[in-house]
Amino acid sequence: MASSQMIAPSPVPPPPRQPGRLRTKETLTLKMVSSQPKYDLIREVGRGSYGVVYEAVIRKTSARVAVKKIRCHAPENVELALREFWALSSIKSQHPNVIHLEECILQKDGMVQKMSHGSNSSLYLQLVETSLKGEIAFDPRSAYYLWFVMDFCDGGDMNEYLLSRKPNRKTNTSFMLQLSSALAFLHKNQIIHRDLKPDNILISQSRLDTSDLEPTLKVADFGLSKVCSASGQNPEEPVSVNKCFLSTACGTDFYMAPEVWEGHYTAKADIFALGIIIWAMLERITFIDTETKKELLGSYVKQGTEIVPVGEALLENPKMELLIPVKKKSMNGRMKQLIKEMLAANPQDRPDAFELELRLVQIAFKDSSWET
Ligand SMILES: Nc1ncnc2c1ncn2[C@@H]1O[C@H](COP(=O)(O)OP(=O)(O)O)[C@@H](O)[C@H]1O
Ligand SMILES: [Mg+2]
Repeated sequence: MASSQMIAPSPVPPPPRQPGRLRTKETLTLKMVSSQPKYDLIREVGRGSYGVVYEAVIRKTSARVAVKKIRCHAPENVELALREFWALSSIKSQHPNVIHLEECILQKDGMVQKMSHGSNSSLYLQLVETSLKGEIAFDPRSAYYLWFVMDFCDGGDMNEYLLSRKPNRKTNTSFMLQLSSALAFLHKNQIIHRDLKPDNILISQSRLDTSDLEPTLKVADFGLSKVCSASGQNPEEPVSVNKCFLSTACGTDFYMAPEVWEGHYTAKADIFALGIIIWAMLERITFIDTETKKELLGSYVKQGTEIVPVGEALLENPKMELLIPVKKKSMNGRMKQLIKEMLAANPQDRPDAFELELRLVQIAFKDSSWET
């Protein structure tokens, strides 16, 4: 079965597996900056469905960065790019496990402009209009690109990193703690990621040179993310991401919670995706993506000879008992219980990101004190 990234209108029983579009009402503006090249692109390091990612250097400082280039020739691309910009630029402080956006640049033909909140720009408004209407709202002969300048992650993604090494308990524990910390930070900042999966979790190995520290994970690819706005009653009061209901069925099928398939969900969908990732990491459960033929970490349910995403199977049968762990001794009782709760069919039975972080810290602490 293919693991396809999906964005589709909802409710959708049965859900379509082809890309569609998200709709948005957020706004932002652009500022003029110099058209002098600031970055040198070195090599292509990634290519997704919507953009190309390069390793690059800042000319002035020779610092290494990653630059993601999205061509805005289709409304889908514009929408993904704007979502990524809104999420990453809404974060006021940095977190070690969340990719940091240095800047976002809009290029139109030979001109470049820095994207920033708080000012007006007709170019920016054209992009928003394109995204809202679902059709190009500017002269199609112009070439628009959005460039995202971010931290460069030199260690590939979580699939590549883990699957090229033997299973290691210390690495697994470190990755779980880093991921839960990143998710608690995102949810505290009102951001629902909606496409958590090992391909979108990148590895930075730079601090490994002399120490035996585990690598740093960075949650990346915010193209499907949603920033939940303030509650209607009191605009000053931020709404809890666990009460912010979303209706666009989107994500990648193997990591999607049952309620996402139905199109009525909250930030608990991210908890479910992380449950799939952690379960797969601890037990080395993988499947082959039929499109790319790549081996990917992800747990699933077997139905005869077919493998079915856990969320899809739970949607059909919410009472289904998940076989966790699949292998004996791959996790202790507390971990097994936590993963079961993360993958509960009812989102209200899942822990929120803050409880999850706390419980993982407790499990890690107990495990390490037991070892010594
Ligand atoms: N900051 C980065 N550093 C290094 N590689 C990156 C970085 N961002 C993305 N990549 C590479 O590019 C790929 C696609 O990027 P991603 O942001 O996931 O976009 P897409 O929406 O196309 O999936 C990633 O899987 C990764 O291999
Ligand atoms: Mg991606």
